[in-house]
Parts: sequence; C-alpha cells; structure tokens
Amino acid sequence: MQSKKNTYYIFNYGCQMNASDTEHYAGQLEEMGYVPAEDFHTADVIIVNTCCVRESAEKKIAGKIGELKAVKTAHPQTVICVAGCMAQKDGDKLLKKHPQVDLLLGTAYVNDFKSILADYLSDRQGGVYTDLTIHQSEFEGKMVRQSSFAAWIPIMYGCNNFCTYCIVPYVRGRERSRDIENIVAEIEQAVKEGYKEFTLLGQNVNSYGKDFGEKDAFAKLLRRVNEINGVERIHYMTSHPRDMNEEVIKAVAECEHVCENFHVPFQSGSNEILKKMNRGYSREKYLELIKLIRQYVPDAAITTDIIVGFPGETEADFQDTLNLVQEVGFDAAFTFIYSKRSGTPAAKMTEQVPLEIKKQRLNQLMEAQNASSLRCNEKLVGQQVEVLAEGPSKNPAVWTGRTRTNKLVLWPAEGKNYYPGEKVMVLVDAAQTWLVKGKAVQDE
Ligand code: 5AD
Ligand code: SF4
Repeated sequence: MQSKKNTYYIFNYGCQMNASDTEHYAGQLEEMGYVPAEDFHTADVIIVNTCCVRESAEKKIAGKIGELKAVKTAHPQTVICVAGCMAQKDGDKLLKKHPQVDLLLGTAYVNDFKSILADYLSDRQGGVYTDLTIHQSEFEGKMVRQSSFAAWIPIMYGCNNFCTYCIVPYVRGRERSRDIENIVAEIEQAVKEGYKEFTLLGQNVNSYGKDFGEKDAFAKLLRRVNEINGVERIHYMTSHPRDMNEEVIKAVAECEHVCENFHVPFQSGSNEILKKMNRGYSREKYLELIKLIRQYVPDAAITTDIIVGFPGETEADFQDTLNLVQEVGFDAAFTFIYSKRSGTPAAKMTEQVPLEIKKQRLNQLMEAQNASSLRCNEKLVGQQVEVLAEGPSKNPAVWTGRTRTNKLVLWPAEGKNYYPGEKVMVLVDAAQTWLVKGKAVQDE
C-alpha cells in the first residue's frame, strides 16, 4: 500500500525532551516530502534518538543500533542517523563501533536536521555534529506531534547544575533559554491546529531566562502562556527544588490554566547524600518547599524522582529517604537504582553500593510509594474530576483520560463516542495504585 514516496522511521528513547526532539525530526522529514514507514527495514531514513541517563537504557539502544547493520547491508542507500545523548557522549567512538551509521547528530543540532540531511544526500559524506557550544537554532516549521491535543514545548535546553551522578550537563550542554516570543508563537500555532494541553519542557525549568539575566522569568512565562486564548492546560517539567520559588508557586495558584501538579525530584532524603550529590538543598529546605506548595495549592498533586544506592548510601541514609516518602505522601514517584555514568564525579567515588542492596532498597521504596499513591488516589473517591479524554483502553468499551493533576482515569463509554482531547467530568468511585475509575457525569 505504501506509495513511492521516500519514507522515514524513528526509534525514540528516553525523556520527554527526546520525545519532543523526535517530533521536530519527523516534522522536518515531512517538510522534505518523507512519509512514515510502516516497517523500519524498508525505510529510506532511520533515526535512533538515544538516551544515556542510565546504563540499562544505553545497552538496549546499542542493541538496536547493532540490528540496523543488517538493514544497511540489505539497503545500502538507507540513511542511518544516530541522534541524541548517546551520539553526543560517544561521538566518533560510536561510529567506529557501528560503521553502518551515516550521521551522528548531537543534542544541539535538532533544529538543523533538515539541512544536515540535505547535505548528506547531495554528497553522501557522513558527518559528526556534536559541537555543544553552538547556539541552538530556534525552531520554525512543521511539527509532527504524537498526540492530537497535547503538545510538548521545549522552553530551554541544557543544564548547569552538575549533580554528581548525572550525565545530562555533559551531553546537553549549558542552559540556553528559548526566546519567549518564539515559545508563544509555537503555542499559538499549535492552538490553531487544535492543541489544548501544553507541557513546557526543560531540564531545570525554574532556571528559565537566567541566561538573559531576567528575574522570575519562569513565573512570568507561566503567566504569559496562561493568557493565550485556547490554552486549556499547562504543565511543566522538570523543576529543581533549589530553584523552585514562591513566585512560581504563586503563578501556579493564580493562573487558571496552570495545572496543580508539581514534579519536584528530591533524589535522596539524607543530607549527607544530598551534599555528595551536589543538589544544593537540604531535607529541611525541601520539606519547607512542600509546605509552601500545600499552603498555596492545597489540592496539588506532588510527584518526585528518587535514586537509591548512590555511592556511600548507608542503611540510615536510605531510611531517611524512606521517611521522607512517608512524610510527604507523594502522589507518584519515579524510582531509580543509581547507575554509574563514567565522566561524572560520582563514578569515581569509592564505596559503590552492591547491586543486591540497591535492588532491596528499591523494592522497599516502591512498596512505600505504592501505598502512598493508593492513599492519594483514595482521596478522590466521591469527587468529580475534570478529565481530558485520551482514547479507549485495551477494552474499547472503557475510555481513559487524565485529570489536571495527571492522574489516569478510566470510565465506561456507555455507547458514547468520545474524542481525544474532549473534556469529560467523571465521578470517581474506585481507586487503585496507578489509576482511578468512575462514571461520566452527564451534561445538564
Ligand atoms: N542513575 C540513576 N538515576 C539517575 N537519574 C539521573 N542520573 C541518574 C543516574 N546516574 C535520575 C534522576 C533524575 C531522573 C531523570 O533520572 O532521578 O531526576
Ligand atoms: Fe541532571 Fe541534576 Fe541537571 Fe537534573 S538538575 S538534568 S539531575 S544535573
């Protein structure tokens, strides 16, 4: 059924920023006349958009790149491009290991992909684009978004924090904020195309605008986006507890469309470990921040990221993490086993924690967090929640969607034809760890 048009296929891994970069790549390819391939084996251009935040991700991706060798042998004209954080980190080393790769595209070249590909097609000379000091181009043009109503909007690139476990500052470079007018223009365009829900993305969104020397620029950005006609929901991630301040919390509280969910990674509950991680706040400061959030936004959902088994983490340090989870009562947490990333300061720290212990701690932590998630969801039973419908569940008679606080909701369609992005009021009648269930409330 596929026409004679050139085709593309993108494998995407990692965080939301990568998901957004993939939408940029797809947009540029479609501007060049490419259409999505049904099967990557026969695609004319294949992009592997990579992640290197943990070793497990890297191993899986290296396997996928290896698989493409057979594709290149069968179709030597296929353009194979490895993009993203692994390409940035490994550069030439990756090309030597995987000679089937034609183009290596680091993280600062996403918006220049169209011209890089055109150059490659004209002379078939492979290239490595990994300079991180260039100014990232602003994006203008077509975007192929995954969702028909929710859009990722990058607001800044890079990170200046250098948490000692984290590879991100080395592969995404220094913080560069996007021009506010460019951000607003992208959102306005997306609204015209029917988008309603916007997630502002950055490794550390609370630092937005600091490179322009502007104070409280992130809070101002939230207020500005809130004013755009047609924007219904605004989310943002990720926040850093050290940089999250009262101005931002106030903006969330006062702006109708900014959703009341706060993702504030604390990483460890032990002051000793937080210091070794170079996080720049203490357990006490973090708890003060949570108090402030609850004071301004009492119904806020609060989520977090936690690492177990950072070098030198003792049982007492781990108990501090566990206590913090219990004390705050997070709605959800992304929990990770510390993964040694060479080139980061923590990789050189002695006292690496044995894997068995890390696994035990992770299990214990997940158990505590699951209980907390269930308690938070149980509070919704009996309440009416505003849901943006996403699509049918595995059972087509049951629809799924999300609340403003990003909770997954399931309800029976009862013969009604919902559409993705439709606003539905649901009366919650049951809670589980990962979701709530209910019934749609009929419009009056
Ligand atoms: N090992 C484990 N988890 C990590 N993260 C970042 N670097 C590492 C690492 N080396 C986690 C942090 C961060 C999330 C995106 O990934 O919790 O917030
Ligand atoms: Fe990594 Fe820390 Fe930057 Fe997050 S804030 S990307 S954990 S260095």
